Amino acid sequence: MKDPFLAEFAFQTRAIHSHQEPDPTTGAVITPLYQTSTFEQEDAGVHKGFDYTRSGNPTVAALEGCLASLECGKHGYAFASGMGALTTLSLALFQPGDHILVGDDVYGGTFRFFTKVFQRFGVEASFVNMTDPQAVASAIRPETKMIYLETPTNPLLKLVDIEAFVALARKHNLLTCIDNTFASPYLQNPLTMGVDIVLHSTTKYIGGHSDVVGGALILRDDSLHDVIKFHQNSLGATPDPFASWLTLRGLKTLGVRMRAHCENAMMLAQALEAHPAVENVVYPGLPSHPQHELAKKQMKSGFGGMIAVRVKGGEAEARRFMQHLKIFTLAESLGGVESLVEHPGRMTHLSVDPAVKVALGITDNLLRLSVGIEDGADLLADINQALAAVYSTAQVR
Ligand SMILES: Cc1ncc(COP(=O)(O)O)c(C=O)c1O
Repeated sequence: MKDPFLAEFAFQTRAIHSHQEPDPTTGAVITPLYQTSTFEQEDAGVHKGFDYTRSGNPTVAALEGCLASLECGKHGYAFASGMGALTTLSLALFQPGDHILVGDDVYGGTFRFFTKVFQRFGVEASFVNMTDPQAVASAIRPETKMIYLETPTNPLLKLVDIEAFVALARKHNLLTCIDNTFASPYLQNPLTMGVDIVLHSTTKYIGGHSDVVGGALILRDDSLHDVIKFHQNSLGATPDPFASWLTLRGLKTLGVRMRAHCENAMMLAQALEAHPAVENVVYPGLPSHPQHELAKKQMKSGFGGMIAVRVKGGEAEARRFMQHLKIFTLAESLGGVESLVEHPGRMTHLSVDPAVKVALGITDNLLRLSVGIEDGADLLADINQALAAVYSTAQVR
């Protein structure tokens, strides 16, 4: 998959044009939606590059090429969901008896897949605090094949030093995979730091409008291309052309949206941190974040749209605050243009063992904000009025 735009143009230009040339037959400026399951063949096995949509489709291929370009990779593979990307990757690369090291606070669905599904096939996962290189090093076994992690993590936005972890993995001849969903390719390109595989839930920032579910894998070198391509087709967790078309449309504005997400989130994080009703705020862009220096080094264009905040009091105050918000919608998921709020302890992380929740810092008063791209002053006013309604304290400034 060749990308003529990669070296020459900046992110936002690639997002709009990479692998999206005007349609050669009609001149359509926007990549057409090839909503077809099959393609005419001139003779048996003679066709224009596509024979059946599970194996390949021009709309899906445009999305795959553009994603590869934005992650500074060479090969992109689209899937029906982020979980479809993970299951395909796992079935493509591992055999019974293999062992994988996984971040201890990865997305709950990832945890569920490794513990409740993949384990049945004889592949064991150990969950490790990836911010502790010593713990990671001592968890490596002779049968360990890969280190899999997220950075920033969910919900507490811990960062992993990508270059340090790549060095450790290389020393032990292990593959590395980063789920880059929270950062998006606009803020962080792990492949340029030596990571082997990037995974996305394109449902989030990449699609960006909370109207389509999808996933992706991206590779930089050729060695894993054949095996991933083979399993993408064999397992069939491939996306529908319309879902790919919607995702591609969202992708065009990723840079613009991410700048707005980051700007709004930084402003709200600062305001929340100064509010008397707030116990603490976790946002990589704040100097109070324990890994702020690493965030500056690793997240090249901003600190993202996710904020974790502990309000004063307990679960009752946290839930009342959410109920008083008018613009922020109480919902799971993240990365859309609209602002969302959720209570990790009761929602996204409900199935996490109570002791693990305590260890990870998922307290009863913790809330997660996915800051959207509405007007920043309106979002601030919304938070102000909701905090004032719960605590009757001074306004956030
Ligand atoms: C970080 C992360 N990775 C992967 C997934 C799974 O993606 P999907 O819901 O598209 O299957 C999610 C979903 O919330 C996620 O937050």
